[in-house]
Amino acid sequence: MKNLKNDKTENLKIPNHVAIIMDGNGRWAKKRLMPRKIGHRAGAEKLRQVVRWCTDYNIKHLTVYAFSTENWQRSQDEVNSLMNLIVEFFGKYEDELRAEGVRLRFIGELSDLPEKSLEVVQRAERDSQERNRIILNIALSYGSRQEIVRACKLYGEALLNGTMTNDQLTIENFSDFFYAGDLPDPDLLIRPGGEQRISNFLLWQLSYTEMYFIDKLWPDFSKEDLYEALAEYSRRDRRYGDAR
Ligand code: IPE
Ligand code: IPE
Ligand code: MG
Repeated sequence: MKNLKNDKTENLKIPNHVAIIMDGNGRWAKKRLMPRKIGHRAGAEKLRQVVRWCTDYNIKHLTVYAFSTENWQRSQDEVNSLMNLIVEFFGKYEDELRAEGVRLRFIGELSDLPEKSLEVVQRAERDSQERNRIILNIALSYGSRQEIVRACKLYGEALLNGTMTNDQLTIENFSDFFYAGDLPDPDLLIRPGGEQRISNFLLWQLSYTEMYFIDKLWPDFSKEDLYEALAEYSRRDRRYGDAR
């Protein structure tokens, strides 16, 4: 019976772009008296499943927050295990991602990554360019304030070298200076883990995004939970400031 509900897609409005703050891995591991890195591994497995569920729902863009600029402050041991996990993940699931038509993109200060992880993400992006079932956009060493300041600096350069004038800047083309300015804004943001905050994720892009917070920890997130988020999204009235 459960599956019947999972597969019920009539009356669902499918968002074009879903964003997820994948939070709660550490607490998930702690509850099981295991090291945090085991929680991150479970989180990576969950991402793999969620990508598949998103393609089942015909969601075209999925952006996930995997590692923030602030996460560099964590212990060397935890940071190392996360950086190694990136390499492990793409090594293990390259074929599967290809078979599922997953195009990879990355946003964030990738030059901060250790060489091996950087190589792996660059290759994943390059090798997947032709795929078009879903774009999986992974935020790594990402901070939204950093992205906005970086955009201002790039705009300053465009002014200095004369490729743009001051009055040409608009809300639409300012995002051209972002890491992936061509991607549409998210329609739905899901944050598992119980916290109700944005934690420096996509501040500009989330201006009119519908927010959905769920207490479950990320490794416990289920297809049913995704369905519930989509059902709730379908019930929302997006007015964009209009008086409809
Ligand atoms: C999210 O899980 C993954 C990263 C931030 C890298 P956490 O590691 O933040 O898990 P909690 O919030 O401590 O449970
Ligand atoms: C946000 O989670 C970053 C990621 C999930 C990658 P955090 O666990 O870092 O956020 P805070 O510290 O709860 O705000
Ligand atoms: Mg957390």
